[in-house]
Amino acid sequence: NHYEIAVVVGSLRRDSFNRKLASAIVKLAPPEFSFRQLQIGDLPLYNQDDDANQAPSVKRLKTEIAAAQGLLFVTAEYNRSIPGVLKNAIDHASRPYGQSAWAGKPAGVLGVSVGAIGTAVAQQHLRNVLAYLDVPTLGQPEAFIQVKEGLFDQAGDIGAESRKFLQDWMDRYVTWVKKHSV
Ligand code: FNR
Repeated sequence: NHYEIAVVVGSLRRDSFNRKLASAIVKLAPPEFSFRQLQIGDLPLYNQDDDANQAPSVKRLKTEIAAAQGLLFVTAEYNRSIPGVLKNAIDHASRPYGQSAWAGKPAGVLGVSVGAIGTAVAQQHLRNVLAYLDVPTLGQPEAFIQVKEGLFDQAGDIGAESRKFLQDWMDRYVTWVKKHSV
């Protein structure tokens, strides 16, 4: 059995720590898992008037989510919530009403920030949204990661100090996806 995971990064910044984390953590997954980062930076601003005529970029997003067996959100925290670009993508793929691409897809939530509480508030907001969208989301372990020297090694992989914690997170995530994917 193969598991394709759609990865949504909540930051468009070129040198995003969250994108780096998303790229590095997938190397801790077993071979039957593959990961693809979804493009959300080219989506228009969500407008309900367009529900019956979604833009090609929105249709692409929904098709990629539909093809996935699981979701991985790796998000920045902006002003104690999720960045607007992430909410915009979530809203797009939840519509039209009754045709949400998210429903039932098992998910994990991660985030890294320069602040001391490591995206904890953004992650809680995201969990609220995902609960409404009927996305079964891994509860533990929580991963509120702060940017520190050594988080990534020279090769861009997870550094030695964080490896055990994030390997444990990935193992739990893998079990979660296998249990909940349909
Ligand atoms: C931030 N940052 C931030 N950090 C945090 O821990 N809590 C917060 O509420 C905020 N708020 C916030 C608002 C805005 C508009 C910006 C631009 C930044 C700092 C943030 O953690 C930092 O910029 C990270 O580098 C963002 O993640 P990426 O882009 O590196 O993935």
